[in-house]
Amino acid sequence: MGHVDSASTDFALHIWEWLPPVKLEPQRLPGTITVPRTDPIYNCHGYLTKVPIGAIQPFIETFTKPGEVVVDFFAGSGMTGLAALTLNRRARLSDISVLGKHIATGYLMDAPARDLRVAADRVIAAARDALGALYMTTRGADGATVEMIRTIWSFTYLCPSCGDEMVYHEALNSQGSVPQRCPSCGGPFARRSWPRGEDIPVEVVVQGKNGRQVGQEVCETDRRTMRAALKDERMREVPSLPIEEDREMFSRSGLGRSGMTETGKFFSPRNGIALVELWRAINDVEDEAIRQELRFAFTAILPRASMRYQWSAKRPLNAQNQTYYIAPVYFEWNVFDLYSRKVNAVIRANEALYDDGDLFSTEKLRDVSYEIASAEKLTHLDDSSVDYVFTDPPFGSNIFYSDMNLFQEAWLGETTDHASEAVVHTTGKRKNGSRERYEELLRSAFSEAFRVLKPGRHMSVVFGNSSGRIWGLVQRALRNAGFKASPVHVAILDKGQRSVKGLNSGSEGIVTVDLILTLEKPAKDEGTGTAVTLANGDTDALIRSAVGEMPAVEARNPSHVYARILRKAVQKGLVLDELHLGDVLIALRNAGYSVDRKTGLLCDDIDHSRPGEDHRRPPSVVQARTAALGL
Ligand SMILES: C[S@@+](CC[C@H](N)C(=O)[O-])C[C@H]1O[C@@H](n2cnc3c(N)ncnc32)[C@H](O)[C@@H]1O
Repeated sequence: MGHVDSASTDFALHIWEWLPPVKLEPQRLPGTITVPRTDPIYNCHGYLTKVPIGAIQPFIETFTKPGEVVVDFFAGSGMTGLAALTLNRRARLSDISVLGKHIATGYLMDAPARDLRVAADRVIAAARDALGALYMTTRGADGATVEMIRTIWSFTYLCPSCGDEMVYHEALNSQGSVPQRCPSCGGPFARRSWPRGEDIPVEVVVQGKNGRQVGQEVCETDRRTMRAALKDERMREVPSLPIEEDREMFSRSGLGRSGMTETGKFFSPRNGIALVELWRAINDVEDEAIRQELRFAFTAILPRASMRYQWSAKRPLNAQNQTYYIAPVYFEWNVFDLYSRKVNAVIRANEALYDDGDLFSTEKLRDVSYEIASAEKLTHLDDSSVDYVFTDPPFGSNIFYSDMNLFQEAWLGETTDHASEAVVHTTGKRKNGSRERYEELLRSAFSEAFRVLKPGRHMSVVFGNSSGRIWGLVQRALRNAGFKASPVHVAILDKGQRSVKGLNSGSEGIVTVDLILTLEKPAKDEGTGTAVTLANGDTDALIRSAVGEMPAVEARNPSHVYARILRKAVQKGLVLDELHLGDVLIALRNAGYSVDRKTGLLCDDIDHSRPGEDHRRPPSVVQARTAALGL
């Protein structure tokens, strides 16, 4: 087994070996776990749908004792492994994701902060030298030659009526918000159907003489460096992978229409070359731990180093990590600036992870391994060898990890084998039978969990979906694998996102709150219990009682309402097939609620105290309205 880091595991005696057997007290676990997404570990490197370690730690503490083995077979960026490590548990991680393993490996490397900073400064200096003048511009205020900090680019559109070019950024400014009309002829603007022209730079930000950042117009120096970068042979060295038509994200991100069918195309020539030079310098670093950390920081900046980094008038909007979306106004951000800041973020994350000074700090257990393996075959794990499983499978058709991984994996030189990816395809050839394959894969994965777990021990599964059918499918997969029908604990995991889509459409919705179901592998002489099918009227009763019991503050979030209802149903052992978010939303809408577009929260009727204005009033206590639901 390829251990990522197994230092100090060969102590003859460990404190934890003397601890009494694990004392299970799931009732002491909180019912709702709210995790702000602001911790330095979480934010250090993006990966889709990461579970913050703060959400995992209480489970590991409840279901294991120090020194025991925790498994996650949909491990992604390895947060379960990190949570285990902070609590002196061993971790056996696996996933099909090459990017996931790369990220987890980076997190697990604990290079000394000073050495890392020195090495980072050295690779940045080398890459800067090699880049030459490509980032250089002329400062408007005094004519000094300075490095650009960022350049803002805009889409242009060609008006089908008058043929004039509309610079989106200019139109945005002159029309105060998203342009509605052609500035030349006044014809209605339609983003999807108007042909695109060339993207153009509209503003360059540099450091002013007083040290403050200032925006200035694009000058001749900028145009010269941009032309030079276009002709630079090093552009060909930018690693690039095709995002083929049969990839779900091809159609979901509209790549055919935009022509952005390769990952390399998402980098401006200047940023592409700067990245090539930086990557070269990083890979020349001899010390393995430092090199790994530097590579980790490098892949962490790639979305922002690309055109996916969205501009907004107030502040940068980040890159959408679940799609290949490029906003009509985007950044070309200085790669060295991004990288230098990221290395600081890595140092902060290392400090948070490794400098804890806790009881066991003198005897820190670092035994975390990461295999590239499909969850349906955990050949690296023996029967009944594992003390606890915490895992977070893909949620149906929500996110296509392997498609998004291509962006970073192009640089890593190895890609995720997506043939066995547990996702429900909604487009293309792979759509047929996709739901059945997904169910079968989850069933096999849970059967493997069942096989490797010791009898009487537990598995916690994080899951979120707006479709009762997908929930039902997960429940079936768990039951068929042999787990007890009723979980020992169900928690709501609130990662602090908001939901806007949903209530207005009334049929489809985005869930921003997940559940964590904890199930027990029965001891040898125990049965699994039976699941109960939802009867007529059960859904209505569930909705009514869940909404009625909610604290007012949670009742304003449609996702919370849905999660509460699901939790109630799961606790009763009910099958969830017919419990869709859409139904809950329709019921709420029929009772007079709508979603505030800004906050994503529920509002009730108009506030009539301000005549003539449509001020939606948040429901003070939703309970008062449940009587009116008429369910
Ligand atoms: C929800 S993410 C897990 C994220 C993880 N909790 C973290 O903190 O980063 C689901 C993961 O399942 C992985 N996956 C999909 N199909 C798989 C399979 N057949 N076997 C193993 N992993 C799979 C994806 O690559 C993805 O990393």
